[in-house]
Amino acid sequence: MNDLSALPADFVWGAATAAYQIEGAVDEDGRAPSIWDTFSHTPGKVADGDTGDVACDHYHRVPEDLELMKALDLDSYRFSIAWPRVLPQGSGEVNAAGLAFYDRLVDSLLEAGITPNATLYHWDLPQAQQDRGGWPERETAERFGEYASVVANALGDRVKDWATLNEPLCSAWIGHLEGTMAPGWTDLNAAVRASYHLHLGHGLAVQALRAAHADARVGIVNNLSPCEPATDRDADIAAARRADGHTNRWWLDPIHGRGYPQDMVELYGVDLPVRDGDMELISAPLDWLGLNYYFRQVITDDPTGPAPYAKSVYLPGVRRTAMDWEVNADGLEQLLVRLSEEYGASRIFVTENGSAYRDTVGNDGEVDDPERSQYLEEHLAACARAVKRGVPLAGYYAWSLLDNFEWAYGYDKRFGLVHVDYATQKRTIKGSGRRYADIVGAHRRRV
Ligand code: NOJ
Repeated sequence: MNDLSALPADFVWGAATAAYQIEGAVDEDGRAPSIWDTFSHTPGKVADGDTGDVACDHYHRVPEDLELMKALDLDSYRFSIAWPRVLPQGSGEVNAAGLAFYDRLVDSLLEAGITPNATLYHWDLPQAQQDRGGWPERETAERFGEYASVVANALGDRVKDWATLNEPLCSAWIGHLEGTMAPGWTDLNAAVRASYHLHLGHGLAVQALRAAHADARVGIVNNLSPCEPATDRDADIAAARRADGHTNRWWLDPIHGRGYPQDMVELYGVDLPVRDGDMELISAPLDWLGLNYYFRQVITDDPTGPAPYAKSVYLPGVRRTAMDWEVNADGLEQLLVRLSEEYGASRIFVTENGSAYRDTVGNDGEVDDPERSQYLEEHLAACARAVKRGVPLAGYYAWSLLDNFEWAYGYDKRFGLVHVDYATQKRTIKGSGRRYADIVGAHRRRV
């Protein structure tokens, strides 16, 4: 096994999920539709016409899923709260029954000795809020701040670790520019405005969480990728710099008080709707930074493509997951070092990392997934190398606890440490899940 001894004694071992991907029960106890219900029910948007209507039926299976978390020996569970359960219309009347679900979940976690790490927004905007304009409009940021306050008042006595947004890049760029995620727009102007209001909503939520509980530890979760030029041509080097701006700097600079990167503001050519005081809210110092890491990108110039006029090239001969994403653990080490050295992060969590493979249940009832175990070990080794280089890495959350609804890919892509048979909802801990538990156990014994 790789040497993980550099990981700190109090390293947090976790696994992550998100509400729409696992809960199902989309019209129970007063929940109203989110943009993902609308999107997944629109023909042609999700592979095989899959929806999150039932997903892993987690809403009805918390006790069973908690047993899985215990079997995996988790210290912490990262989950998201569905805004459309708590405030079905986006704002206004609080739905007590929806909130009660998370109340019970948090109590059960604490009873099991598992620390909750809650994300307020993992892409399921209430459709009613979308109908009022969604993230391109300032109102959505304000409503998000109010929602944060409701949740913090209800759960903040027990939940201390909070993330405001999960992967705002996906909400803004994939949801409003590329159009392959909800709400499915392809409009650069709307995408840039959405990115700005996501950041503003983050700032308002930080304020709300701290106002409710001064001891809240608040972070944000970004998905980042190293962007390397495909060749040493000037055009590719410049394209990689633009891709880095689009993928990384746009999401890191403003929350660190550096404003939006000027080169990208000029490239997008969209006026940011900044008002007095916004940038201070957006850059309020955080208690931790979350990094979701999946792959690096090798970039070439793409003058006729959409902004940022740069695209990934498909490298031959590299290992890939079932998502067709390159396996490259060095990229994780590199990003962790960058967050620490360039952005001065004082506490970092890998809030997601994992891989999809074509798992099947064997005749013996086992799910043998050596590739996922290898992926896990390589990326944990990268974490340990980063720690040796001085990175304040506090924990790692595997994506994902369960196979689940992989957005536009539907149920075809399996990322779980636990296999889900969607026809029966039977859960089976995969070989990689057992491997993870062994790694956690070995680390605990060593320290
Ligand atoms: C990041 C997202 O946060 C999560 O929802 C998704 O399933 C994984 N990436 C895998 O694509």
